Amino acid sequence: MATVKKKKLKKSAKILLFLGILIVVLISVPVGYRLYHGSRLGKLHYDKAAIQTILKKHKQSYVYEVGENKTINAAFQSKDYQEKNLKIYQEVPYQEQKDLIKNINLLVAKEYTTPEISAIVSRGNNEEVSAFAKRDKEEDVLDFLQFDYAKLANYDRYVAYSMQEREDDDDTVTYVNLNLDKPYYEDAQKVTEQSLTMLVNKYHQLGEDYEPKDLMKIQEKYAVDDEQFMIKEAVIAFEEMAAEAEKEGYSILANSAYRSYQDQQDTYDLYLNTYGQKYVDNYVAVPGYSEHQTGLALDVASGNSKIFADSKEYNWMLENSYKFGFVMRYPKSEEQVTGYKYESWHYRYLGKELAKKVYDSELTYDEYYARFLDR
Ligand code: DAL
Ligand code: ZN
Repeated sequence: MATVKKKKLKKSAKILLFLGILIVVLISVPVGYRLYHGSRLGKLHYDKAAIQTILKKHKQSYVYEVGENKTINAAFQSKDYQEKNLKIYQEVPYQEQKDLIKNINLLVAKEYTTPEISAIVSRGNNEEVSAFAKRDKEEDVLDFLQFDYAKLANYDRYVAYSMQEREDDDDTVTYVNLNLDKPYYEDAQKVTEQSLTMLVNKYHQLGEDYEPKDLMKIQEKYAVDDEQFMIKEAVIAFEEMAAEAEKEGYSILANSAYRSYQDQQDTYDLYLNTYGQKYVDNYVAVPGYSEHQTGLALDVASGNSKIFADSKEYNWMLENSYKFGFVMRYPKSEEQVTGYKYESWHYRYLGKELAKKVYDSELTYDEYYARFLDR
C-alpha cells in the first residue's frame, strides 16, 4: 500500500516538474526573443517605442535589411505609421519635424514621387512642410526644390519670378532668396552679429548704432590719409597685400575703408547734392545698407593713376586680391544682383579661405552667400 502511494507521489512530482519546466520555457522563450531582438535593434539605434512596434508587426527582418534608418525609427514610433508607405519612409531623409510621418503620408496621397517628397521635407521646417502638404499638388516641384538652398517658404515666389524673368532655375531660386523679386529695402533683414561672412546689401541692413569691434588704423604708408580703419584681421591682410604689391612695383592705397553710419550719411548727402539721385542709387549706399559700416570693406586707389580702373594696380588686384582674402564686391554686369553699378575699386574682406571659394565660384558674394552660407 505504501509503495503504491509513493509511486503516485513520484508520478505527480514528475508532472509538476514537467509543468514547471514548461512554464519556465513558455515565459523565457518570448522574453529571450524580445531581449535578443531588442538588443540587436538597439544597436542599430532604434528607440524602445519603435522596437515594440517593429516586433509587434514582425518587421525585424525588414529592419535588419535596412539597417540604421532614422526616418523608419520615427515611423515606427508614430501614430501615423502606414505599412504601405514603409519603403518611402526608408528613402526619405530624416528631418527633425514633429509631423514628418504624417506629412510624408499626405504627400504620398497627393502622388508626389519619393524624390519630390524628400526635397519638400528637406527645404522647410515642420510648419512650412505641413502647410505645403495640405496644398493642392504642384507640378514639377523639383525644378526649384532640387537645389539644397531652395526654401519651401519661397516656393510661390520662385514660380512667380520664373514666369516674369525667365532666368535659369538655379538663378531664380538664388535671386528670390536674395529678395530680388521685391523692391530695394523692402523687408530688409536686420544684421546685428559681426562675422567675416556677414552680408550687407540693399536687403540686409545694419542698425544706426552698429559699430564693428576691433577696428584698427591702416598704416598711413598704405592709405590716402591716417584716418582709414578696418577690423584688425582685415587691416593685417590688407597691409600684407599692399606690401606684396609694393614689392612687385605696384602702389595700392586704402582710399575709404570703415565708414560709420554718420560717415555714410555724409557721403550719401555729398554725392546726392553733387551728382543727383540716380548717381547715389547706382553707386552710394543708403546709410545702414553700406558694407563700409561693417569694417570689412574698402575702396582702393592707385598711387600711380587717378582713375583706378585704368591703373596697373586694378589688374593686379583682379588677379591677386583673393589670395589675401579680398574679393571685388560689385563686378561688371552684375547690377541686377548687387544693386550697384560696376565698382572697380570696392573690395570686401572675407578671409583667405572664403575669398578663394567665392573667387573660384565666379559668383557675386550675394549669390555665393544665398547658395552656400544662408542656412
Ligand atoms: N559704394 C558702396 C555701394 C557703398 O556706398 O557702400
Ligand atoms: Zn565702397
